[in-house]
Amino acid sequence: MTDKRITLAWTGASGAPYGLRLLECLLAADYQVFLLISSAARVVLATEHGLKLSASPDKAREQLAAHLQGNADKLTVCGKDDWFSPVASGSAAPKQMVVCPCSAGSLASIAYGMSDNLIERAADVVIKERGQLVLVVRETPFSTIHLENMLKLSQLGVTIMPAAPGFYHQPQSIDDLIDFMVARILDHLGVKQGLVPRWGYDQRT
Ligand SMILES: Cc1cc2nc3c(=O)[nH]c(=O)nc-3n(C[C@H](O)[C@H](O)[C@H](O)COP(=O)(O)O)c2cc1C
Repeated sequence: MTDKRITLAWTGASGAPYGLRLLECLLAADYQVFLLISSAARVVLATEHGLKLSASPDKAREQLAAHLQGNADKLTVCGKDDWFSPVASGSAAPKQMVVCPCSAGSLASIAYGMSDNLIERAADVVIKERGQLVLVVRETPFSTIHLENMLKLSQLGVTIMPAAPGFYHQPQSIDDLIDFMVARILDHLGVKQGLVPRWGYDQRT
């Protein structure tokens, strides 16, 4: 089993393009990606990106492979009740997981260990196995409920990374803003990237 394995979950928060770009970068970096997509994430992806993914994991995988026009050999799309997936057990799950974008609903379910679908279970597994879990939460404003859930998870070692792109790299396009977020996520995962200039080195001034 290679170490370059990761679980990526898309949930129904705004920001589907972040998730799509992150998937593209992980596959380009030769990661084996276990992709979990909530029903709401499919609605958001269709709304924000015009990509209507099938509810069938196999068909969704084919659609994504065609959409990314890249090598998708290392992409596995898992169904929400696929309890036999490697991500569902500490004995086989990748040590790293990113939920991007992460809805307030999934944030709450993860904070309370609900494990009621494969996304929640996979996150629960990564927390109990003391792996690396990154939640790219998107909501505004945050309620006290959201903030308490984020604090609880942060204190457990989960990285809370709100989808809040900076503007100091002088973005010229929406793609630049997306890449800003994806670059920071990849940095936290230890995946080499050169998507945006680094502060103090290569700024457009
Ligand atoms: C277009 C669209 C945008 C949404 N944006 C957000 C959002 O930014 N943050 C959020 O927490 N929920 C958002 N929602 C609501 C969630 O999709 C909804 O709460 C859903 O139950 C989340 O389920 P999931 O966590 O299983 O994906 C949005 C829904 C839609 C259809």
